[in-house]
Amino acid sequence: MPPDPQREPQRDPHCRALRDAYGRYATGVAVITTLASTGAPVGLTVNSFSSVSLDPPLILWSLMRSAASLPVFLGAGRFAVNVLTDDQRSLATRFAARVEDRFAGVDWEAGLGGVPLLPGCLARFECATHSHVDAGDHIVLLGGVQRFEHGDGEPLLFFASRYAALRGVPAAATAA
Ligand SMILES: Cc1cc2nc3c(=O)[nH]c(=O)nc-3n(C[C@H](O)[C@H](O)[C@H](O)COP(=O)(O)O)c2cc1C
Repeated sequence: MPPDPQREPQRDPHCRALRDAYGRYATGVAVITTLASTGAPVGLTVNSFSSVSLDPPLILWSLMRSAASLPVFLGAGRFAVNVLTDDQRSLATRFAARVEDRFAGVDWEAGLGGVPLLPGCLARFECATHSHVDAGDHIVLLGGVQRFEHGDGEPLLFFASRYAALRGVPAAATAA
């Protein structure tokens, strides 16, 4: 497929075309969780998760400045990344929806610092907030991985603004 003609994002930073171009980078989907100072579990769906460093172990994700959970994540000092399987699409939808309590009826267990962990995930990373960086309309949060685990399964993917499934690749395949 030939690419769209080149565009200059500076002229229209919110243009659909830029979003669409970003969306051509296929990602996984995760629910980031933390515990509010009130003791309430908090979480949201993201696709901005990325590994950063092995030594020391660091990961990142980015949070919209307009997110209701922003003050909670900036104040909490820790969070967990719950990487979703294809079977967990309903969790992805739920944790991006405007519902009063996203955790109502959702199974979870308390991890380090009481941060909620979702069962049945492909991988989980329990992190202490390392730093955060202002980045336009988002804040990038870096986390130092304190505990992690992973299992087998089919990942939930996100591509071109839609959920997608991985096909034809063995779950345990490695690139190198
Ligand atoms: C697949 C998917 C990926 C998303 N990725 C992000 C992300 O990386 N960062 C972000 O801030 N919001 C992301 N969102 C949107 C949030 O999940 C959504 O705005 C949520 O309502 C924010 O919760 P809050 O306002 O309670 O903090 C994503 C939504 C979906 C469905």
